[in-house]
Amino acid sequence: MANVRSVATVYKSRPTLEGAGVRLKRAFGFREKPNLDPFLLLDDFHSDSPDDYLAGFPWHPHRGIETITYMLEGTVEHGDSMGNGGVIRPGEVQWMTAGSGIIHQEMPKGDERGAMWGFQLWANLPRTHKMMDPRYREITSDMIPEADGGGGVRVRVVCGEVGSVRGPVTDIIIEPEYLDVSVPAGATFSRGFRPGHTVFAYVVAGTGWFANRPDDLGFGCSPGRYFDLAKGKLFGPERLVVFGDGDAVTITAGDKPLRFLLVSGKPLGEPVAWYGPIVMNTEEELEIAVKEYNNGTFIKHTKGGLAAAPCSVENEARPPDAAS
Ligand code: FE2
Repeated sequence: MANVRSVATVYKSRPTLEGAGVRLKRAFGFREKPNLDPFLLLDDFHSDSPDDYLAGFPWHPHRGIETITYMLEGTVEHGDSMGNGGVIRPGEVQWMTAGSGIIHQEMPKGDERGAMWGFQLWANLPRTHKMMDPRYREITSDMIPEADGGGGVRVRVVCGEVGSVRGPVTDIIIEPEYLDVSVPAGATFSRGFRPGHTVFAYVVAGTGWFANRPDDLGFGCSPGRYFDLAKGKLFGPERLVVFGDGDAVTITAGDKPLRFLLVSGKPLGEPVAWYGPIVMNTEEELEIAVKEYNNGTFIKHTKGGLAAAPCSVENEARPPDAAS
């Protein structure tokens, strides 16, 4: 590994009110998107209080993106305009390609303790595929293989390859990898990544060193202050670590086991026109989407099921950071 990636920027998740009144933590969104291409948003919804999440995400549209939901605790009930419906359970992933358009709802339900914990990542689609047919991948826990990362490291492979272990989600345009990595205290995990691809880690539990060298302080922090001399290099939960370019990452756990999501993808380098849950390349395309939503022609593909959904775009389609 000739060129280990350094840390470029570290973001702290910030409290955000989203959907019909869900209190969650946003790791990145509209403001940070230039640094995360092809990814648009990562939300961490984690609470033991049902009042924080039961309002859920009632009927709303998506176009031009993919949403990837990964549950750790509790469940999410969902239904959509294609007639699909079901429950995402702990350890499971829903990889939804909205493509030309889908209208759905996502309603978090806690477990018997009232606990809820999950992540939703938005991945952009390139201009050539924004209007592709919508599709779902329902990934149950037993479909996600676990790879041996060496030194006691375990890797759940949702998408991508670790050694000879390949994840169940394939044929995604941006060539993503989505890994859930658990590193024992004091152990190190190293892995190659294709140069030029965006790579980030989001800490779930424990603490770890993500920087290339122990003395490496050449990264930005957000939020951060220029007079904050106590800049740390050991990052814990609710921290998003964005790596600079290179061909590998090396991550070492602190004195407790470290768990993090490790995600990569091929940048698109295209203009981003973003209005709430619709992400296209131009303002004109956004206007068309909103017009179609309001006149009932938004959905291009159905399998029976709903022809329209009882919500208005004025209520739902606002910039994702508007409430933060
Ligand atoms: Fe959604």
